[in-house]
Amino acid sequence: MNISVIGTGYIGSVTGACLAEMGHTIVFVGRDTKKLDIIRAGRSPIFEPGLDTLLTKNRDRIETTTDLVSAVEKTELTFICVGTPPNKDGSSDLSQIREVSQTLGKALKSNNRFPTIVTKSTVLPGTIEGVIIPILEKESGKKAGTGFGIASNPEFLKEGTAVEDFFHTDRVVIGVSDGKTKDLLENLYRPLNVPIFTTTLRTSEMIKFASNAFLATKISFANEIGNLCRELGIDSYEVFEGVGLDTRINPKFFRSGLGFGGSCFPKDVNALIAHAKSRGITPRILNSVIATNDDQPRRMVALLKTHINPRGRTIGVLGLAFKPDTDDIRESRAIPVIRMLLEEGASVKVYDPVAMANFKKICPDLTYAGSASELLDSDAVLIVTEWDEFNRLDYTGKLVIDGRRLPKARKEAAVYEGLCW
Ligand code: UGA
Repeated sequence: MNISVIGTGYIGSVTGACLAEMGHTIVFVGRDTKKLDIIRAGRSPIFEPGLDTLLTKNRDRIETTTDLVSAVEKTELTFICVGTPPNKDGSSDLSQIREVSQTLGKALKSNNRFPTIVTKSTVLPGTIEGVIIPILEKESGKKAGTGFGIASNPEFLKEGTAVEDFFHTDRVVIGVSDGKTKDLLENLYRPLNVPIFTTTLRTSEMIKFASNAFLATKISFANEIGNLCRELGIDSYEVFEGVGLDTRINPKFFRSGLGFGGSCFPKDVNALIAHAKSRGITPRILNSVIATNDDQPRRMVALLKTHINPRGRTIGVLGLAFKPDTDDIRESRAIPVIRMLLEEGASVKVYDPVAMANFKKICPDLTYAGSASELLDSDAVLIVTEWDEFNRLDYTGKLVIDGRRLPKARKEAAVYEGLCW
């Protein structure tokens, strides 16, 4: 199939590369010509294991363009993968979605086939019906379901394992309102041999939010129980190992510690909170999920202060990425931890294998260490991201406050404090 993918960010580049690997011809549409050139050269525009390989291998089936209209003309299926960043009040900024829908609508006008538009960007329930379809219909003069197909197809990929997750996902969710689009998308995903759940447009949009909100809730729950476990001298990891054996609960996403960051959980939970409030519903659980998550970095600094006064001391922070195997620092727990350390008057030394360049853009004045071991001469070491290489360091004689439970630090440090264990 000929497929266009609008957006060369995380969702777009992974979706396009993986669909190319499945044998489809892909046209990437973007505004950033530098990124398009990188893709055309068979390289990945983002740090994501395995993506380079797919883009190189399938180069013959991949084109790039800045011209959305021509891309839609030569493809049967168009994926919208543009960003929906948060507004100040937590709601989603739909300006890119609106802009793309307008251009798409114009492109659909002269298209006499039955082009299909699929929204992969994370949008709140009702956005496709309330925002995207009205714009497409107005600009094209055609009706959704008869003049063109429309679908919701949220992604459940995790950064760092996105390629693996694409091909071995637990399920594909498709929201549709017409039979032709349903058949087209079910056929597209059938080769993956995974469960395909087909539903309405707004249910599909809600499945994405409910999934992320539930996983975030699971983490905050693990952190709340973990904080209590610590006080009681109980190891929360053992607790959740035991709890997770119950198949109704499942052991995944129970790693207690410094909490969740990234471009998805904080943004999506806050967007759902804002949406619920706008409908007169008080989202008590979701409010607490955010409150507990905000508390964990504070607990880390408080724990440090039970050992030393950070003022005038050098505090080493191991890890800046919001999780290992990514250079993404969005909503990383390193940000509040470092902000609090600076407020306490500490001199902060940091290290991350790949995220330092991104962190320098928001925090240029820290001391950036040349290696992880160089950072160990600090007065105390805070473990913020569980990169594998941090588990090979020699922590002998060190004061370590661990937010991610690194076995080697736990074993060797002279003074060791685990956040939830
Ligand atoms: C998350 C979801 O897991 C994906 O299914 C979803 O597609 C994606 O958001 C999205 O909406 O695009 P991602 O943000 O890449 O994926 O990362 P996760 O692996 O889910 O981790 C998120 C944060 O939770 C990280 O800061 C991680 O350290 C933290 N976490 C995760 C914990 O604190 N404990 C855990 O047990 C698991």
